[in-house]
Amino acid sequence: MADALLDINGLDAFYHDFQALYGVDMQVSQGDVIAVIGANGAGKTTLMRAVTGFLKSRAEAIRWKGQAIGALRVDQIASLGIALVPEGRLLFPSLSVEENLIIGGQLKRKGPWNLKRLYSLFPILEERRNVPATALSGGQQQMVAIGRALMSNPELIMMDEISLGLAPVIIKSIYEALPSIVGEGMTAIIVEQDITKALAVSTRVFCLQEGRISLSGNSADVSRDAISRAYFGV
Ligand SMILES: Nc1ncnc2c1ncn2[C@@H]1O[C@H](COP(=O)(O)OP(=O)(O)OP(=O)(O)O)[C@@H](O)[C@H]1O
Ligand SMILES: [Mg+2]
Repeated sequence: MADALLDINGLDAFYHDFQALYGVDMQVSQGDVIAVIGANGAGKTTLMRAVTGFLKSRAEAIRWKGQAIGALRVDQIASLGIALVPEGRLLFPSLSVEENLIIGGQLKRKGPWNLKRLYSLFPILEERRNVPATALSGGQQQMVAIGRALMSNPELIMMDEISLGLAPVIIKSIYEALPSIVGEGMTAIIVEQDITKALAVSTRVFCLQEGRISLSGNSADVSRDAISRAYFGV
């Protein structure tokens, strides 16, 4: 696709001898909200690690605005405008909420996101800004993790399991924030276990099964049956 922002082409990924992704293709255009679904161990996190540089791949397997980035370092990829909200959040435990957020802004990329805007998106974080990040509830920590990524003013935000293990009321407030996050042309790739939720918030969906794309399509068009087959391979 000529106008793809992110173009993943024949991506293989390995942990030593173990191959976790096989020939994954995914074209992402600016403004897409992509949902990646799939069973435990299907390769969702691995895909995000590869795109963000935590796992090296063949340079040409991942292109960003046409540039081959598969072999770049994590910091190089971050400065191109790709941010990750990692599985498990990985906040800095000894730092306050605000310090964790400020770290996200260190790339000094230009864009709409700053502390003020973030605090209006998640007011609870302003109330708790001087508290160690680990003193927050899981849901509030997830807001910090999302905020840290936004503070880098990315063009693509990748969110891995943003609602896993969180209370329904928190999940609701995180998803209510999503339109403000992806407004103004931000592109997002979201890993979400809740298929109904994944389809509701996304424009397109990809299902991974044992390291391979087993289904892709417009979220509004894919049938439940097709998803079940792609998910479980039955
Ligand atoms: N650090 C690692 N070393 C070796 N194998 C790994 C490592 N991380 C993941 N794997 C393996 O790679 C495969 C894909 O894992 P991955 O974490 O990408 O799956 P996932 O779809 O994110 O699963 P989950 O829903 O459980 O988060 C699995 O078989 C997993 O056991
Ligand atoms: Mg995972």
